[in-house]
This record gives sequence, C-alpha cells and structure tokens, in this order.
Amino acid sequence: MPKVLTISNLRKTFIEDKRVLEVLAGISLEVGEEFISILGPSGCGKTTLLRIIAGLEKADSGEVVFHTPDKRVGFVFQSPTLLPWLTVLENVALPLRASGVRRDEAYEKARKYLSLVGLRAFEDFYPRELSGGMKQRVNIARALAVEPTLLLMDEPFSQLDPLTAESLRSEVLDLWLYGVTTVRAVIMVTHNVDEAILMSDRIVVLSPRPAKVNGIIEVNLPRPRDRRSPEFQKLEDRIYELISA
Ligand SMILES: Nc1ncnc2c1ncn2[C@@H]1O[C@H](COP(=O)(O)OP(=O)(O)OP(=O)(O)O)[C@@H](O)[C@H]1O
Ligand SMILES: [Mg+2]
Repeated sequence: MPKVLTISNLRKTFIEDKRVLEVLAGISLEVGEEFISILGPSGCGKTTLLRIIAGLEKADSGEVVFHTPDKRVGFVFQSPTLLPWLTVLENVALPLRASGVRRDEAYEKARKYLSLVGLRAFEDFYPRELSGGMKQRVNIARALAVEPTLLLMDEPFSQLDPLTAESLRSEVLDLWLYGVTTVRAVIMVTHNVDEAILMSDRIVVLSPRPAKVNGIIEVNLPRPRDRRSPEFQKLEDRIYELISA
C-alpha cells in the first residue's frame, strides 16, 4: 500500500502556570491509503494529536512527514466552527479564499463539495437555519473543498442524533470508498467502538493521558459491515480489552 504519512514519536507537554501536563508520550504511526480511527478515553490527547498532524499545534519532539507531493489537510473540528454571519457557500469557500484562491474559483469548488454532501440547494442559508446534521455536512464539505490529501475528523458524528449520525456515516464512507474526492487517507477520532469498526481499515487504541498507542487492530471485514455478525462482536471484545489494558 502506498504510504501517505509517517508519524514518529510525537511528544507534547502543556505547561501553564507552572502546571505541567504531559499529553502525548511518544506516538508513532504509519498511515497508508486507508481509513484509520483513533479511540481513546476522554482527555487523553486525541484532539491534540490531530492538531499536531494538521500543523495547528507544534509537538515538543517527533515529526509528521508526508510522502505525497500534495500535503494539504482537511479538518472537521470537534466543536462547531461555522461563522454565523456567513452563508453556507461563504463558509465552505472561506478556507480557499484565505489561501488565496480567486472568489469565483473558490465558489465553484465550494458548490462542487456542497453537492457531494447533498446541500447544494442550501448554499444561501445561514448556519442558524440548518439542522445539526446539515451543519455537520457543511463542516465536511468545507474540509473537502480544500482538496486535501489527508482528511482529519474529530468526533464528527458525536453531536448528532443516532439516525442522523448513521446516515452521515454511510455517506462519508461512500465518498471515501468511491474515491470521488482527493482524500487518500482519513484519520478519525471517535469514542464510539462500534463506529470505528463499521468505518475503519485500522483502529488505533490510545491509553489514558499521557497518550501512547496501546494497540492497533486491523478490521478485515467485508463492507458493508454487519454489526450483528460474530466477527464484528469478536473485534468489539478485543478493542474493549485493549481500552482497559
Ligand atoms: N492549548 C492547551 N493548553 C493547555 N492544556 C491543553 C491545551 N489543549 C489541550 N490541553 C489539555 O490536554 C489534555 C488533552 O486534551 P485533548 O483535547 O487533546 O483531549 P481529547 O482526547 O481530545 O479529549 P476529548 O475526548 O474530551 O475530546 C487535556 O487535559 C486538556 O486540558
Ligand atoms: Mg477531543
């Protein structure tokens, strides 16, 4: 499998008012053209890890090396980040405009990715006029519109009701499996074991803070995956064992 990026021995400690908080205790991971989920207890450092991979935060040591010519990263953030005074179209186009893309070209790309998430008809709406599920689709469209090689998603479905979450999961998975975007690797943070097995090629289980890799599980089940199959349940058991290890 072609390599997309190598994460080696990332360490991070936050120091605030003399309080020292070790968050990442040496995280290494080879990422190929695959869908990876990261599972770990609350506060263990998952968001920090994604932010370092995206270059939004600096590690104390270690490195993230891309093996692809294009190093663009799309980020679906854990908390809502749509700007309320901009329309859906303007929100999706914003990162493109910020990186210097011409207005008409940025809008054209934004429309393309809004269509992919089924929201083309809502481009003139404001975020307050959208449901939670629609807002999250806009967030995903905005991350895809920068045409990233790597897509990072931080608990993208956790704020949604179960039915909305389930349909958005399968839509995101379809976009990934049909290869209709520029994305060559996905790293998704989740608390949800079931979601991780449903979607991923591999699952990385982190320890409590300071995070290290407790184990990596390959999910070799055919898609679409059946939650009720004995293989699915066996994997679930293995992952819970690793989480509590
Ligand atoms: N900029 C910062 N300055 C100081 N401490 C921080 C900063 N960012 C995160 N932390 C601390 O680092 C630890 C890990 O935070 P992080 O957000 O990475 O965890 P997480 O695994 O994403 O948690 P959750 O599952 O609740 O989203 C937490 O204790 C948090 O308080
Ligand atoms: Mg987090």
